[in-house]
Amino acid sequence: MTKVINGEELNIPTHVAIIMDGNGRWAKKRHLPRGMGHREGGKTMEQILEDAKDLGIRYLTVYAFSTENWKRSVEEVTGIMNLLRKYLKDCVERSLKNNMRVRVIGDTSALAEDIQESIRHLEEVTKDCDSIDFLIAINYGGRDEIRRAVKKLTAQAAAGTIDPDSIDEQMISDSLDTAGIPDPDLLIRTSGEERLSNFLTWQLAYTEFYFTDCLWPDFDRDELVTAIRYYNKRDRRFGGA
Ligand code: FPP
Repeated sequence: MTKVINGEELNIPTHVAIIMDGNGRWAKKRHLPRGMGHREGGKTMEQILEDAKDLGIRYLTVYAFSTENWKRSVEEVTGIMNLLRKYLKDCVERSLKNNMRVRVIGDTSALAEDIQESIRHLEEVTKDCDSIDFLIAINYGGRDEIRRAVKKLTAQAAAGTIDPDSIDEQMISDSLDTAGIPDPDLLIRTSGEERLSNFLTWQLAYTEFYFTDCLWPDFDRDELVTAIRYYNKRDRRFGGA
């Protein structure tokens, strides 16, 4: 889909994935506790979701908490979980008002029971919303997601419901948390780091990457448009000549 933004015609990526990095450094620069950085990061996430919808992005996936983030201090992990608790409750009304479908990817079974319940509720009430799909990765690891998919497929093979020889790439895609969702066209990582950090390991095979020094709480609509402009300059060949 193309859209004219400030007089410029841009091809809008269907699916944008974001590694929201730099909350801690944003807080440190201001002599604030790290938790304040995450709080600002949460606000940025909500604003960017609205901007993405407005720009015509159809799927937005963000990395909120990785399988490795449990290694952080108890205080920081508790702070992020409390932000999540509040977010999952507050966003029900806003998502319905804005016709936004929200889903969580990752191994949610390790989360507190009340958070799991809020996720189930939010996913259920927004399931028919179709202006944008918002995917939040929580307790998510790309390798862990592939491990879980392999377990599902091997269990089906052992039960005789699928033939192991029939396993193709589509069946693997369909066994991931992102089943049915097109692979991201554009990945954005903020804060100057240039790594994948176990995010969407399978799905990012042909994705364009955009890295910016901007710290996540400072990321805004103009930064998002800059990333889309960069995407427009890429020549995507998917392995072809
Ligand atoms: C990376 O910054 C950020 C995270 C690990 C957490 C991301 C979480 C949010 C944006 C808020 C989430 C909101 C909800 C509702 C879950 P960092 O802490 O690694 O920053 P640093 O690299 O500067 O230390």
